[in-house]
Amino acid sequence: MIKVITQQDTFPLRSVALRNGATYDKCILPTDSVAGIFHLGLYLDGELICIGTFLPEDYPGKGEGGIRLRGMATEPDFAGKGFGAQLVNFAVNKLQEEHANYIWCNARAAAVGFYKKLGFEIVSAEFDIPGIGAHFNMLLLLNN
Ligand SMILES: CC(C)(COP(=O)(O)OP(=O)(O)OC[C@H]1O[C@@H](n2cnc3c(N)ncnc32)[C@H](O)[C@@H]1OP(=O)(O)O)[C@@H](O)C(=O)NCCC(=O)NCCS
Repeated sequence: MIKVITQQDTFPLRSVALRNGATYDKCILPTDSVAGIFHLGLYLDGELICIGTFLPEDYPGKGEGGIRLRGMATEPDFAGKGFGAQLVNFAVNKLQEEHANYIWCNARAAAVGFYKKLGFEIVSAEFDIPGIGAHFNMLLLLNN
């Protein structure tokens, strides 16, 4: 089951999958309080195993109606089983109904293949985020 969750609900998985076990205060993203944000969670047998955060933010040069995806993570024991794809596709359907134009993200180099499978394309040169590593901006156009 996929449903909207709270910012606090995301912290355990953000910590494990994205912040090397950091305390929850280090799992707050600066964009977590923007208007229109929503966090999605996928539950399996009552356990939250996959999360993603979606917020209104346009990507430079790509026009209005942009949604930024942040904090995408699957519980490591459940990675590679299709749950991340299910969650992103759920968001795609929801955002198409809401007439968003595209989704973009800062994709870790190691996760580029995941986003490519979902139809995202690389739209930037490689760049470094200190402490995390190489990234690319990736973007998926939504059909409205
Ligand atoms: C990246 C991540 C979110 C993917 O979630 P997931 O639930 O494991 O992904 P899925 O099982 O839904 O994968 C969907 C498809 O992408 C592929 N895929 C998944 N992760 C991949 C990766 N890192 N590189 C290449 N392909 C990948 C899967 O093999 C699958 O392919 P298929 O449709 O041919 O079977 C997850 O592995 C994760 O949390 N990684 C650590 C945190 C992270 O890097 N988050 C992204 C930050 S930008």
